[in-house]
Amino acid sequence: MVFKGLFQTRRKVANNIVVDTAGLDMNNIPEHIAIIMDGNGRWAKAQGKVRTFGHQQGAETLKTIVKAADKLGVKVISAYAFSTENWKRPVTEVNFIMELLSRYLTNEIQEFNDNNVQVRFIGSREGLPEVVKQKMDHAIEETKDNTGIILNLAINYGGQAEILHAVQGIAREVAEGRLDVAKIDNQVVEDHLYTAGLPAPDLLIRPGGDLRISNFLLWQIAYAEIWTTKTYWPDFTPDHLVDAILAYQGRERRFGGLVEK
Ligand code: IPE
Ligand code: IPE
Ligand code: MG
Repeated sequence: MVFKGLFQTRRKVANNIVVDTAGLDMNNIPEHIAIIMDGNGRWAKAQGKVRTFGHQQGAETLKTIVKAADKLGVKVISAYAFSTENWKRPVTEVNFIMELLSRYLTNEIQEFNDNNVQVRFIGSREGLPEVVKQKMDHAIEETKDNTGIILNLAINYGGQAEILHAVQGIAREVAEGRLDVAKIDNQVVEDHLYTAGLPAPDLLIRPGGDLRISNFLLWQIAYAEIWTTKTYWPDFTPDHLVDAILAYQGRERRFGGLVEK
């Protein structure tokens, strides 16, 4: 092509999602990105709307970001949608989020399939409304053969609950004589986490301005690079995602070792 190379900015377009990849090293894209989708309520309040309006907009943002991440070559997005501690919120807000999840999982199946997105879930099913559990099963079943990006949705998820669940599973196997205590290593623990089989996140993104983990993927983020922004999740765009990946690419990941210079 005559004009190839004249443009400094490369753009990747998918379903009207434009991702400006300028400056990105496409050979060093994080394989797994974890996102704490925070700031929905404050985003809504800031414009005089009810908090639930923010959750609705946040669900839209997730659709866009999954497509953008896929275009960039990310293999897994783990998105924190509802924590084990979020049950403390007013029942009206909790109910709204449960209905939103159920609607999202119904309406988006076609879109997931069109985009080759495989949906998975992490978290405890205990306490979730029956309809949400049904929609989760349906989404898993309908998208299980998709080979593109994995959207790993954290619903009724807590990192501590996940570790407890793993410990109980391991202890049960030991008690039943199926596992030798001396054989319990990192791999055994990882095999008992909800994320079994997935790589650990390379990059953890938290919008909304708070600098904490809020019980997300406690074991798995041991060496994740962290990137935060004050931008609330509903305002998060593919450009923020690219900024986060650019920052990630500027980091030196040492994993406790030394990098030869
Ligand atoms: C994140 O947004 C979504 C959930 C926790 C369900 P928030 O609802 O926490 O929004 P802020 O942080 O109060 O603004
Ligand atoms: C973390 O956000 C959970 C989700 C985004 C689903 P929270 O709003 O619940 O976290 P805290 O309470 O500010 O730590
Ligand atoms: Mg919050």
